[in-house]
Amino acid sequence: MIVLGIESSCDECSLALVQDGRHVIDMVTSYQDDVHAQYMGVVPELASRRHVETISAVYRALLERSGVAAGDIDGIAVSAHPGLNGSLVVGMSFAKGLSLALGIPFIGVDHVLGHLYAPQLTDPVDYPHGFLLVSGGHSLMGIMEDVFTPRVMGASIDDACGEAYDKVARSLGLPYPGGAEVDKLAQLGDPSAYDFPESRLHHAQSPYDMSFSGLKNAVVNQRAQFRKNLGNAASMEEESVEDIAASFQRRAIKSLSKRLVAMVQAQGQSRCIVGGGVAANSELRRQLDEVQVCDFVFPSLKYCTDNGAMIAGLGYHYLAQGKSSPLKTSSRSRVEQFKGFL
Ligand code: KG4
Ligand code: ZN
Repeated sequence: MIVLGIESSCDECSLALVQDGRHVIDMVTSYQDDVHAQYMGVVPELASRRHVETISAVYRALLERSGVAAGDIDGIAVSAHPGLNGSLVVGMSFAKGLSLALGIPFIGVDHVLGHLYAPQLTDPVDYPHGFLLVSGGHSLMGIMEDVFTPRVMGASIDDACGEAYDKVARSLGLPYPGGAEVDKLAQLGDPSAYDFPESRLHHAQSPYDMSFSGLKNAVVNQRAQFRKNLGNAASMEEESVEDIAASFQRRAIKSLSKRLVAMVQAQGQSRCIVGGGVAANSELRRQLDEVQVCDFVFPSLKYCTDNGAMIAGLGYHYLAQGKSSPLKTSSRSRVEQFKGFL
């Protein structure tokens, strides 16, 4: 069964063709960094407009490059929630139109479940297994019981981890999206130079919840203070952005990895997948490699970040069971089940 996957929940417009939920035939992704970089963040209105302009061209490029005819597509899967509503609506409407035109079913799937499915495209992992999903919009950890069933055990109560990275990047004068830039800079600095506060969340009921906004604010305030001091040459001190990046990174990643390790140990998991854009982080990989409590699986980065292949792969499992969505299905920006993920 060939499934077309459509991902347009934020600023990537990514379409992919996947056979039987595993074999990625091809994927075409259009990025919007040129639109949003000047605002140092995604502007929802501009994101949805750009999706409208590009989605048909991305679809045509995918068919042309893969050599798959429209008539060979058996079903369509599309991100229906969570995300930016204006962006989701573009993908949903495209999926519905194509479904009517080709006379094939479509299914609206959950974007977060798509991320959690991503490793199955390259390095299948048996269920159940642990997971950590850390991106610009999500910070979640828990157990995947099967393809459809996450048991969320911890979530950020404020900023997502990638969001905190992007805001720190901005305060250090780095371009958007800044996570990778902070990571690069951090490798040149001293992680013990600044004693930024550690998140002290301690809820007996939710020991795996995370928090990044206190740490982010400490960095932003440090920078603001420095700029103020610049106006007063007498109190001006040298400040190393490399040391700030390194100190922030060590703290942020430690608070993630500490909770993740505690969770996989308490749950007796021998395998744990790590996905989302922050999965590319060098310090996260280093810390998890060091602890050796279980086998941490990092899917290739093109399937960690937002992509149509994970949506097609997940959608296959619904469509193969004869499940599809009615045309009146609408998108949703939030899903209660995953607290704190947007
Ligand atoms: O999964 P993703 O592409 O999009 C969302 O669904 O949000 O994740 C993007 C996020 C951004 O916040 C970006 O700054 C962050 O991932 N990111 C990183 C690194 N590479 C990307 N954060 C820390 N270290 C990195 N190396
Ligand atoms: Zn995502």
